[in-house]
Amino acid sequence: MDDLRDKYIDLIGKAADESALEDLRVQAVGKKGEISLQMRELGKMSPEERQLMGPKLNALKDEINAALGAKKAALADAALNERLQAEWLDVTLPGRTRRVGSIHPVSQVWEECTAIFADMGFAVAEGPQVETDWYNFDALNIPGHHPARAEMDTFYMHRAEGDERPPHVLRTHTSPVQIRSMEAGGAPTRIICPGRVYRADYDQTHTPMFHQVEGLAIDKDISMANLKWVLEEFFSAYFGRSVKTRFRASHFPFTEPSAEVDIQCQWKDGSVTVGEGDDWLEVLGSGMVHPKVLQAGGIDPNEWQGFAFGMGIDRIAMLKYGIPDLRAFFDSDLRWLRHYGFASLDMPTLHGGLSR
Ligand code: DAH
Repeated sequence: MDDLRDKYIDLIGKAADESALEDLRVQAVGKKGEISLQMRELGKMSPEERQLMGPKLNALKDEINAALGAKKAALADAALNERLQAEWLDVTLPGRTRRVGSIHPVSQVWEECTAIFADMGFAVAEGPQVETDWYNFDALNIPGHHPARAEMDTFYMHRAEGDERPPHVLRTHTSPVQIRSMEAGGAPTRIICPGRVYRADYDQTHTPMFHQVEGLAIDKDISMANLKWVLEEFFSAYFGRSVKTRFRASHFPFTEPSAEVDIQCQWKDGSVTVGEGDDWLEVLGSGMVHPKVLQAGGIDPNEWQGFAFGMGIDRIAMLKYGIPDLRAFFDSDLRWLRHYGFASLDMPTLHGGLSR
């Protein structure tokens, strides 16, 4: 028994890996292993012999099993150590930075407008950028011969040869969405529509594509006073300070009466600050929705009335964030975008205060 013990303890000590260890286990204490066979011999022994040999064999079996277990654990430890040596990481290396994008000022201001008007109960409406001339003009009380059509520098879509229908246009303003949302939702209604608009015009203050936000509120007793309150509320929230407005009588085919709205500002050293001083800056057109426009939207002008306005998003973005040239908005110059863009986790929000 001592020979058996010495032999296996020695072999287990030398086993190089788990499979060698398993072979040894089978050889020693497996069903037909050397020690198991010895145990079978116990049956043939006299009771005295058995009493002597039984416990010794059991002890031997336990000892071999324990040695196998210990060796198995030692092999696993060694394997782990080897991995820890091989797989290591220098946590002091500088990280690889990834270029992070930024939020374009137009997107930011678009979101700000949406948040402020949503807070006042306005829902967001949408319409197509390729529009029929009916929605863009006729339904807004701009008939074919009206000078406003010629003044708008409209982009016309191409029609197939022989197709005599009037061409579609790239919408010249967001006002057609007034008609579409009246048709879709009837009255009463309260919507804004931020979106892209197009005119064939290009200089320091005009780009062929730009952005407007349209507003429309229709109910039984809506007046110019509501319009003035809503706009002053908007500008004060947007600029983060109280902003006075000035209404100047004007003319639009789709409103009667119509007003152009200026906000209070101050010019100093070539830059402008909103909400102080004695100067005025025109920012939007507005008025009471013309009865013909209500009718075109399927709403009875004898029962309902409302106000509408249209404001340039790019314009108020320039004013709030001190951006001097409109054309740079759409140049996709990365240096400009990094300078004027907003980090996605650090944007002005309605709940965080909209001013920077
Ligand atoms: N659609 C006009 C434009 O693009 C702006 C405008 C003026 C919109 C008066 C309105 C409004 O809703 O009532 O110049």
